[in-house]
Amino acid sequence: MVKGKAWVLAKTFEGEPTEANFRLINEEIPAPKQGEFVTEAVCLTVDPYMRTGMAGSAVGKVLMGEQVSRVTESKNSEYPVGALVQCYSGWRSRSLVNPKENPEALRLRKVPNLGGKDSSIALGVIGMTGVTAYLGFLEVCQPKAGDTVLVSGAAGAVGSVVGQIAKIKGCRVIGSAGSKQKCDWLKSLGFDYVFNYKDVKLDDALKAAAPKGIDCFYDNVGGEKAYRVLEHMNNYGRMCVGGAISTYNTGKEPLVPSPFRNILQKRLKVQGFVIFDWDSKFQESRTQLLRWVNEGKLKYRETVHNGFDNMPKAFVSLFSGANTGKMIVKV
Ligand SMILES: NC(=O)c1ccc[n+]([C@@H]2O[C@H](COP(=O)([O-])OP(=O)(O)OC[C@H]3O[C@@H](n4cnc5c(N)ncnc54)[C@H](OP(=O)(O)O)[C@@H]3O)[C@@H](O)[C@H]2O)c1
Repeated sequence: MVKGKAWVLAKTFEGEPTEANFRLINEEIPAPKQGEFVTEAVCLTVDPYMRTGMAGSAVGKVLMGEQVSRVTESKNSEYPVGALVQCYSGWRSRSLVNPKENPEALRLRKVPNLGGKDSSIALGVIGMTGVTAYLGFLEVCQPKAGDTVLVSGAAGAVGSVVGQIAKIKGCRVIGSAGSKQKCDWLKSLGFDYVFNYKDVKLDDALKAAAPKGIDCFYDNVGGEKAYRVLEHMNNYGRMCVGGAISTYNTGKEPLVPSPFRNILQKRLKVQGFVIFDWDSKFQESRTQLLRWVNEGKLKYRETVHNGFDNMPKAFVSLFSGANTGKMIVKV
């Protein structure tokens, strides 16, 4: 039996999450039985989806989420002591893992050989967010060389990868983000046009950035701004509805005029994307992303909080734009 720590929901979310929504508890982790193993967290991810995923969660329940961890005790020869794994074992410093118990929710994977790179990239650029960018953009937007692509939330974990993949595919890429520093970083990644959505009127920015219209729109933000973009789409444009972070804390979608006239008249292809539908393509996508990282074609940034006790602080600050690239908590 070993001792661990875990973060539980202290009270239900109302509007913006705050640190008061979370409570740290101690847990006793039983010794593994046959087939099980115990892990110690190395790094954990906080993600915007947790706000909506946890909304219906019971008070007192350990919060959901993925982590990279090291096996410290094992009764499973496939996962020996010392192995580095990743799985959705929640906001826990130590976990008892049974690979056979609810494998769809656990999503247990061995961390691949990263050639000396920090294992946190298994949660970011070649992890859930990187693969979301890869598959959401390539499968839904079907980009062609020469297309004009708009990415919202472009300096985040998903958006920064979408924009770089669009460049690799020969597209002209426009990115929106919430600060000058983030816009400068996007320029350094090769984005053709960037704007700070807090400083400019969206219609003016898009008229300047895409005078001939937008062919592909990868949206991370949702709400009224996403609706306004449809006015600037070209006929037969494609939109991946990948996220709607601007609406996660409002409780309801802000009232916007119906987008359907544009979708109909311009024959737009609009598709929602949920990464958890795409497990069968995860591994091949990750392999390609890691190849691009190693070739220097795909760059990444991480905003790192140190210490398991800082999980809520890291999560809460996602909604004020404190991260560039992937937000990671290192233990
Ligand atoms: N479909 C899927 O399967 C899937 C998978 C992963 C993620 N997602 C979604 O994809 C989106 C991006 O995820 P991520 O991991 O890349 O997050 P992230 O960008 O790393 O973090 C959130 C960023 O969103 C921006 N933001 C926060 N509130 C905003 C608002 N009200 N309006 C506009 N921008 C706002 C902030 O950047 P600024 O400083 O630029 O405002 C913040 O840094 C999220 O909506 C997430 O839920 C979906």
